[in-house]
Amino acid sequence: MEKVHLTKEKETLLATLYGRAAHSRTENPVLRDPLAEQAVDRIDYDFGKLRMRATDALSVAIRVKTLDNLTAGHLARVPDATVVHLGCGLDTRVYRVDPPETVRWFDVDFPDVISLRERLFPPRPGYTMIGLPATDPGWLELVPADRPVLVVAEGLLMYLTTEEVHDLLRRVTGRFPSGEIIFDALSRLAVKLSRFQPAIRATGATLRWGLDDPAELTAAVPRLRLASELFFSDVPEVERFPAGYRAALAVMNRIYFLRRVGRILRYRF
Ligand SMILES: C[S@@+](CC[C@H](N)C(=O)[O-])C[C@H]1O[C@@H](n2cnc3c(N)ncnc32)[C@H](O)[C@@H]1O
Repeated sequence: MEKVHLTKEKETLLATLYGRAAHSRTENPVLRDPLAEQAVDRIDYDFGKLRMRATDALSVAIRVKTLDNLTAGHLARVPDATVVHLGCGLDTRVYRVDPPETVRWFDVDFPDVISLRERLFPPRPGYTMIGLPATDPGWLELVPADRPVLVVAEGLLMYLTTEEVHDLLRRVTGRFPSGEIIFDALSRLAVKLSRFQPAIRATGATLRWGLDDPAELTAAVPRLRLASELFFSDVPEVERFPAGYRAALAVMNRIYFLRRVGRILRYRF
């Protein structure tokens, strides 16, 4: 068994890991993640304290699946891309997407998170783990900048300050010749309400960055262009939620400030 001593923002990676594993174990899941299932079995941690319900696990799986599809779609168009997966936590995207060896893939997170990753998941050709915070410019020097880049950040940017998010995006667009950046973003309202979420309360994590309008980022980071946006309440898999939940999502979808609480954004540069 692997002992873990993660707290606050780092501890939240156990909630998303558990969500993927729990959903993967259901019948006919949106997303299969056997490595997440194995990792949950090997980690010595009270996952019950996170109070993840089946609908929370489904929400995680839908977000993961959407970002997996966007990643795979990008790699089909750019088969020799460099992928940088920021705030990877214990996510197994590289194994699920399973890119060809022509793709160079880098997973970036704090050193203690990466050392846990190394104990849980196998090495693979073309795949490198970097133990540095996403906000540390040092990781950019470890990633060759000779090819277009795909930066994926899931469940990460909301933990940073607005200034850290803008600096990070400016560094990426300053270093690579071209590329795409895909991530999930919460609205400012959702960031405020996040403190009532059981997993956030249990870990003591603080969410900071909210985005109400995608144009805020194109104004702050001049090279960025918005390529697509998808509201959480619009993804096809919402059919999987129980009826009451779907009814609430349908109402949300009609009211813009509620609709934008969560979305997946794709920018190009
Ligand atoms: C909710 S978890 C998401 C992990 C993973 N992307 C997933 O979906 O399972 C938040 C992640 O952000 C990471 N994180 C938070 N602040 C960070 C920072 N400044 N630099 C790097 N990683 C950070 C945490 O270590 C954690 O892995």
